Amino acid sequence: MPQTIGIPKETYAGEKRVATAPDTVEKLIKLGFSVTVESGAGDGASFFDDAFTNAGAKVVSSAAELWSASDIVFKVREPEMREVALMKAGQTLISFIWPAQNPDLMKALAERKVTVLAMDCVPRLLSRAQKMDALTSMAGIGGYRAVIEAANAFGRYFNGQITAAGKIPPAKVFIAGAGVAGLAAIGTAAGLGAIVRANDTRAEVADQVKSLGGEFVKVEYEEEGSGGGGYAKVMSEGFQKAQREMYAKQAKDVDIIITTALIPGKPAPKLITAEMVASMKPGSVIVDMAAERGGNCELTEADKAVVKHGVTIIGYTDLASRLAKQSSTLYATNLFRLTEELCKAKDGQIVVNMEDDAIRGFTVIKDGEITWPAPPLKLPAPPAPKAAIAPVPVKEKSVVAKVFGALTLPIVAVALFVLIGLYAPPAFIGHFTVFVLAVFVGYMVVWNVTPALHTPLMSVTNAISSIITIGALIQIAPQVAPGIARPDELIRWIAIVGIALTSINMFGGFAVTRRMLMMFRK
Ligand code: NAI
Repeated sequence: MPQTIGIPKETYAGEKRVATAPDTVEKLIKLGFSVTVESGAGDGASFFDDAFTNAGAKVVSSAAELWSASDIVFKVREPEMREVALMKAGQTLISFIWPAQNPDLMKALAERKVTVLAMDCVPRLLSRAQKMDALTSMAGIGGYRAVIEAANAFGRYFNGQITAAGKIPPAKVFIAGAGVAGLAAIGTAAGLGAIVRANDTRAEVADQVKSLGGEFVKVEYEEEGSGGGGYAKVMSEGFQKAQREMYAKQAKDVDIIITTALIPGKPAPKLITAEMVASMKPGSVIVDMAAERGGNCELTEADKAVVKHGVTIIGYTDLASRLAKQSSTLYATNLFRLTEELCKAKDGQIVVNMEDDAIRGFTVIKDGEITWPAPPLKLPAPPAPKAAIAPVPVKEKSVVAKVFGALTLPIVAVALFVLIGLYAPPAFIGHFTVFVLAVFVGYMVVWNVTPALHTPLMSVTNAISSIITIGALIQIAPQVAPGIARPDELIRWIAIVGIALTSINMFGGFAVTRRMLMMFRK
């Protein structure tokens, strides 16, 4: 008898997400399960009842009916007490739970003798768990939406423009915290054409910030900010002071601040003070993604957009839900991947194997027994540091050896040149000199160009090389210069084909260069 997976309508006010999507229903059925959906569960995400029915799910009209028919329940938000009351012994719930913040809920669930897998307890250190990491998929959407909310509240373009009505400077965006949400925000803001800067206490994220088009702004204070496992730690008072000074400078300069700083299990660090807000330009925007945890900005009000000192401060805690179709689709996929791990036999029955590190990490209650927090993962020990190799003493070269070493290459080159000059035909020496000079000039030009610009440089030199078209033009000219015989028909036709081909090279080369350079323009 296959187990039934039930998807209730979310009860939290304003929550638009749903824990599965019609496409995923089909995949769950292929794994051997039957799927039941509460009527209207997907309305907020534009997945309507008929789409679920067409995918093979059964649609029931009430929550009570849904909970009683299900062996496994997929949810987004943690259940409310009235939902817990509908649960029966032996059921499995897979949902966000936040056990540390919800001890009463954990107790109530344990009393129902159920098994609970918490999507917020993903063992992130296991690469196998990445496909089930709903925290990452939701934070990525949150970061994207934070930029869209900022753009909506901001009265100007993000990208700089030169129009007939005047020059518009690009918006400057500062992102505090470059974790999952922060990096998504950097990529989105840079994609819209803004100048993006970011800061994080973990210096190792600097390269990721740069690769997404942002500039990493360092705090001038030496302290290691990594707390292990990709998370931050609480920084020393000295660091925090230096960080506040840097943030105060940025606040005066930028138009938009998006804060995403988080240390797991701690209240959100207060990074943007009331004075910093007051120092921002009127019309600036702050989006505080950490609003649910008390906010990174002192003036944030959770779930509201308020205007203080002329600055709009957005503290929405439902950013992922504001992109409900996208977030439901990704969340549904995370849940499906977890179901695959729970049902390796593909027989429509889940097995919560507590010996499996990934499953153990998610399981916070097993058959009514609280199993949270999971013991630390047993990861392979890092390789032992290599024994220090004693430096080999380097013998100091004598002055004569140094001079001789420096002159060897030029002497060999001149000797070779003289040798070629003695034996090669006279015309060759002229061509050879031009060739050597061309190689030298080309090398000097390319050497000083940033590697990122090598491709546009190649395409423009490619275009310039089409100057050979002049030769072909002379060949088809009706009036050939005095003393030069008129070319025969065949040569003229070859020249016409040559012009056509080099034109493609020429115009194409300039067009490609232009497009590439546009990517570097702000
Ligand atoms: P994460 O743990 O991946 O990133 C947080 C980053 O903040 C880390 O890189 C950390 O090093 C950095 N950080 C910590 N303390 C800092 C400090 N004092 N200064 C500078 N950087 C600091 O977390 P993730 O997944 O990116 O989420 C970020 C925040 O966004 C969380 O508070 C999360 O709850 C929230 N969030 C909010 C949503 C909403 O609707 N408002 C939606 C999704 C996430």
